[in-house]
Amino acid sequence: MSHTIQIQDHDIVFDCDDGKSVLEGALAAGYEIPYSCRTGVCGSCRGRVVAGSVAGGQGAGLSEEEQAAGQVLLCQARACSDLTVAVREVRKIDRSAIKTVSAKVYRMTRAAPDVTVLQLRFPAGAKAKFKAGQYLSLKMEDGTVRHFSMANPPHQNDGAELHIRHVPGGRFSQHLAEQMAEGHQIEVSIPYGDFHIRDGSDKPIVLLASGTGFAPIKSIVEDAIKRKLTRSMVLYWGARRPDDLYRIDLARKWEAQLPWLRFVPVLSDAGPLDGWEGRTGFVHQAVLDDIASLADYEVYACGAPAMINAARQAFVHERQLDRDAFHCDAFVPAAAATPG
Ligand code: FES
Repeated sequence: MSHTIQIQDHDIVFDCDDGKSVLEGALAAGYEIPYSCRTGVCGSCRGRVVAGSVAGGQGAGLSEEEQAAGQVLLCQARACSDLTVAVREVRKIDRSAIKTVSAKVYRMTRAAPDVTVLQLRFPAGAKAKFKAGQYLSLKMEDGTVRHFSMANPPHQNDGAELHIRHVPGGRFSQHLAEQMAEGHQIEVSIPYGDFHIRDGSDKPIVLLASGTGFAPIKSIVEDAIKRKLTRSMVLYWGARRPDDLYRIDLARKWEAQLPWLRFVPVLSDAGPLDGWEGRTGFVHQAVLDDIASLADYEVYACGAPAMINAARQAFVHERQLDRDAFHCDAFVPAAAATPG
């Protein structure tokens, strides 16, 4: 059995099968509403049920105030009747824009004890069109799919640079360690996601990354350099130990060369032997310590769901950030639908 879903204020109606979330129904019907994690933690897919009833729809991605205002997470909400739903944005998916190619592993580099930088080359003449911050999907030999953000900027479009964190026991990590080698072919589909800088604003930007959340941020900054943007950005990059800030030299070089970018590295677990003289603690706390009001900022946060949740709650409630100015990409390990 299926239910009919109508998107309020849009001429969009689709059917959603029982057991599928409203988000899954929309995607299957060819419509994209903002989403990232699909697991209820990032809050990107929040919307409001105007008519009808749903089961589920709650999760850490929704604040108490948002719940009280009748919002639900559409990646978690399943229709119990026909629905009318209000969403923040909706657009028709241009499936012809997604390209699938057989890419070659060009280079694999261990950038940190648990991070590999994987460089892929597309076949001769194949170029991928994407926005800085978006992600691609890799199809593994057993048919499963993993998503990774591109770390290269859009003008370097004859391949992809991926920053892959090794998850103990993770299937892709194991595959990477045991089977993947330079010259290996892998099926890639590109691009996906709506994590990208919104043009048309001159608000200063906070870029917030934890761990390999640096990957899409690198793409965003290198794209800004290429496009000669001068919008003010401050990059906070958090990790546990010094080695985890695996491209700190690059970020420091940006700060030295770009008058519009400031870089703040933050370690949560620096030891006495590390000789770390920089900021310590949680990376989102460093933002709270530095910026008294985020009312006029946009925030782009990428990395661990716990960091993203903590940042969103604190920035909105303690620093007056507009909820819709918080853009995020939550890396949820082992969830096939999320970048990482
Ligand atoms: S909470 Fe629904 S996509 Fe993240």
